[in-house]
Amino acid sequence: RLRGDASPAKCTRQEQRWRSDHGIVDARERFVQAYGRLRDDLVGDDSCELTDEARRWLAQMIDYNVPGGKLNRGLSVIDSYLLLKQGSEVTEDDFFLACVLGWCVEWFQACALLLDDIMDDSHTRRDQICWYRRPEVGLRGINDGIILKCHILIMIKKYFREKPYFLDLLEIWSEIALQTSLGQMLDLIGTHTGADDLAKYSIEGYRRIVKYKTAYYSFYLPAVELYKFFKFTISYESDNRGVSLQQTLEKRCRKNMLRKNEVANALLLSGAKLEDFSGLKDILIEMGIYFQIQDDYLDCFADPNTIGKALGHADNNQIEVLHRNYGKKDSSSVSEVKRTYAALDLKDIFSEFERRCYNHLVTSIEAQKDHAAREILKSFLKKIHQRKK
Ligand code: FPP
Ligand code: MG
Repeated sequence: RLRGDASPAKCTRQEQRWRSDHGIVDARERFVQAYGRLRDDLVGDDSCELTDEARRWLAQMIDYNVPGGKLNRGLSVIDSYLLLKQGSEVTEDDFFLACVLGWCVEWFQACALLLDDIMDDSHTRRDQICWYRRPEVGLRGINDGIILKCHILIMIKKYFREKPYFLDLLEIWSEIALQTSLGQMLDLIGTHTGADDLAKYSIEGYRRIVKYKTAYYSFYLPAVELYKFFKFTISYESDNRGVSLQQTLEKRCRKNMLRKNEVANALLLSGAKLEDFSGLKDILIEMGIYFQIQDDYLDCFADPNTIGKALGHADNNQIEVLHRNYGKKDSSSVSEVKRTYAALDLKDIFSEFERRCYNHLVTSIEAQKDHAAREILKSFLKKIHQRKK
């Protein structure tokens, strides 16, 4: 059981209490420690003839882009894994493997944000100047993004090649990469074409964009990755002797090798497809959409996507003001847009949306039959509900 003395550095008190109640007190520290090992592995990888200068660049590029976020996505994998284990022993090796999967999500996020900042012409990211804006980087940053994406495959090959779910993992990752890139494409073609295209903004269009560009990799990926991993870390030796997983687990249970509740969860989780958990995927995607709406709101209404919500409430005059000023970078246009947003009471509309969305998610989660699935979903929701950054 993972218990430790150091309290997690960046947790809120509420989150600390929740972690302590669930026996995952020092998981964050251990997750963070795993980063150093993974980074050093990648920088030290001798399958390519890298110069010392290249290795220094690589190390600096990874350090700059990968670990500086809130780590919510990576930690979701760890927290959920420990919840699924329900207090039973987690070996060092299994914990490390869960960390690898969690860090793969963080690597993916780093790659997406690095490239997104170039596309969006952004200035800062995670309280520092965007990587590509550093004078020595510029558009070379595109190549760095590609390297980060390749790292995921290297890590998965290194640590999971022998696992029976290796192919599943590869499949998940290629699927998610495509979905995220397509979501980004929908966003780029829908929102970057200038003020003339305000008519393109709609709530359905917005939902489609954020479902693909954010929800899949941020919520569905950690859950589905974990599901593959957990399904096999209960170490059953069924396939080669033609014994079903269910029979093996039942036998192990009779021999007291597994706790009853673990068997129940394992059986549920060992269904051929995650889709069998009716509604689970929908809940994760809905949470992802809620998360991105918060993100856009927290951007102080400056994000193009807010326009879809604004247009639904604006009168003709306000629409005219938005038409004239929207999508322009000069400060007076930006203030005009923000002033219109303020007049539209988007803050109240957002609070009301957040309340409804949260209640709906809670109801859907409570309707899940499996206790572990409910706990995992609640832990995801807890991380994002009413977040301020
Ligand atoms: C941030 O959105 C961007 C994303 C959530 C996804 C970006 C995706 C890509 C660049 C494709 C990546 C593909 C692979 C294979 C990794 P935002 O601009 O709304 O948020 P921001 O305010 O944080 O910039
Ligand atoms: Mg952006």
